[in-house]
Parts: sequence; C-alpha cells; structure tokens
Amino acid sequence: MTDDKSLHNFHRDSLNRIFGAIPGHYDLVNRLFTWGMDKSWRRQLVSAILKHHPKKILDIGCGTGDLSTSIALHSQGTIEITGYDFSEPMLEIATCNAQELVPNAKLTFIQGEAAQMPFPDEAFDCIGISFALRNLIFENPLAERHLSEIRRVLKTGGHFLCVESSQPRNRIIRALSHFYIRSYVYWIGVLISGDRDAYRYLAQSAINFYTPEEVGKKFLAAGFRQFFYRPLFFGAAGIYQALK
Ligand SMILES: C[S@@+](CC[C@H](N)C(=O)[O-])C[C@H]1O[C@@H](n2cnc3c(N)ncnc32)[C@H](O)[C@@H]1O
Repeated sequence: MTDDKSLHNFHRDSLNRIFGAIPGHYDLVNRLFTWGMDKSWRRQLVSAILKHHPKKILDIGCGTGDLSTSIALHSQGTIEITGYDFSEPMLEIATCNAQELVPNAKLTFIQGEAAQMPFPDEAFDCIGISFALRNLIFENPLAERHLSEIRRVLKTGGHFLCVESSQPRNRIIRALSHFYIRSYVYWIGVLISGDRDAYRYLAQSAINFYTPEEVGKKFLAAGFRQFFYRPLFFGAAGIYQALK
C-alpha cells in the first residue's frame, strides 16, 4: 500500500468513525448550533434546486436524510431521489425518518464512498449537498476525486447545488463567528455527544474552511462551466452552485 493510499484510508476511516459516532445527537446539535437556522437554509437550498425542475437528484453525504426528505415533501413525490452516504448509522436514521415523513416518495438510500460512486456517467440532472461539502473537499486527500465523481455522475447542463458553512467577508463578523464556533459550538457538541474528536474536527474545519472564491476555483478546475455563490446570515453559511 502506498503512503498516499494510507493517508486516503486514514482520512476516510476517521470521518466515517466521526459520523458513525454522532448520528443520535447530530440533528439536535445542529439545531442548537445554528439556532434552528439550518432548517431554513436547507429549505432555501430545496427551493433553489426545485427551480431547475430536476427529475433525478443525488443527495451526497445525506446523513439523516433531511435534504432528501425535504425535497420529497416539496416536490410531492415527482422526483426520483437518491440519498448517498458512507455512514451506516446515519443511513439507518435516514431510512426511519423517510418512512415516517414521506412513505410514498421515490427515495432510495445507498451506502458508499463519494470518491467512487456506483452510478453511471451523467445519471442525475441535479446533485444536492447539505453540510457535507466541507467533509469532501476541505484538506481531504480525495478532494479532487470527489469533485470529479460529482461531475461524472451529473448530466451535461445539470446543476450542482449545495448549502455549507462559509467565511463571512467582514473581518469583525468573521472573528465573532470563529469565536462562537470555538467557544459554543465545540463545547455544546462535546457536552451532548461526549465525542471530543468529532466536534474538534467539525469546529476546526468550519473555522478554517475555504472562502467562496477558493471553493469556486476548485469547481472550475474540476471542469464545471460556471460557479455562483449566495451568502446566508452575514456569510456564516452560503448556497454554492455550479453548472456542468
Ligand atoms: C455534516 S453531515 C451532513 C448530513 C446532512 N446532509 C445534513 O444536512 O445534515 C456530513 C455527512 O457526510 C457523510 N460523508 C462525509 N464524507 C463522505 C464521503 N467521502 N462519502 C460519503 N459520505 C460522506 C457523513 O457520513 C455525514 O453523514
């Protein structure tokens, strides 16, 4: 095994462990971190997705299935949705939530790694991601492979849309946001879940995440034609869009 491969496996295994350890608390901690705003941010992402009238959507890093079920609810079951995640405990919760909330939706959950997806080229006309882009591209040795897989399974002319934390442009707001993450988000996460490693990773990756311009450069370098960004809540988060 090469050193590169070990590094890739280490990163994948530790992220998988982190997300496998917190699913029971994940939704509650998210609500507390964002004062419930994550729900409204996801809803804005769903509206942006539905504007493109997609027929087949892939939700990568679907976690407990919030984005997939919300798309199913707001599209009245007309869209074929696939939720994809490498964490089995997350997918178990996603399946229960979907059965309860949208029992008749055309929604399937599949387990797997985003760097090697079991879908043919151009299988989806839209790809959505909520709060998992950071895990896929930030200091991840598989970042380029994740982006090239996203591009491969997306139809030409199809849209990638994502909601993710971001870096506020204003220096004072950015400093306040980092202080908030370091002092409140990290400790609430640790207190509720008892998992220091998970919340250290989540807090540090949020504080150090790329600027929207840097994210845009990565998408264009991966072969996407256009990139757009819309800030949410003073830039604490944003909606990222790319066109293949
Ligand atoms: C922060 S959670 C976001 C979950 C959900 N999308 C939401 O909006 O709450 C990130 C999810 O991405 C998944 N994930 C991270 N890296 C992945 C990868 N390389 N392949 C597949 N899933 C991945 C994790 O298991 C986790 O469920």
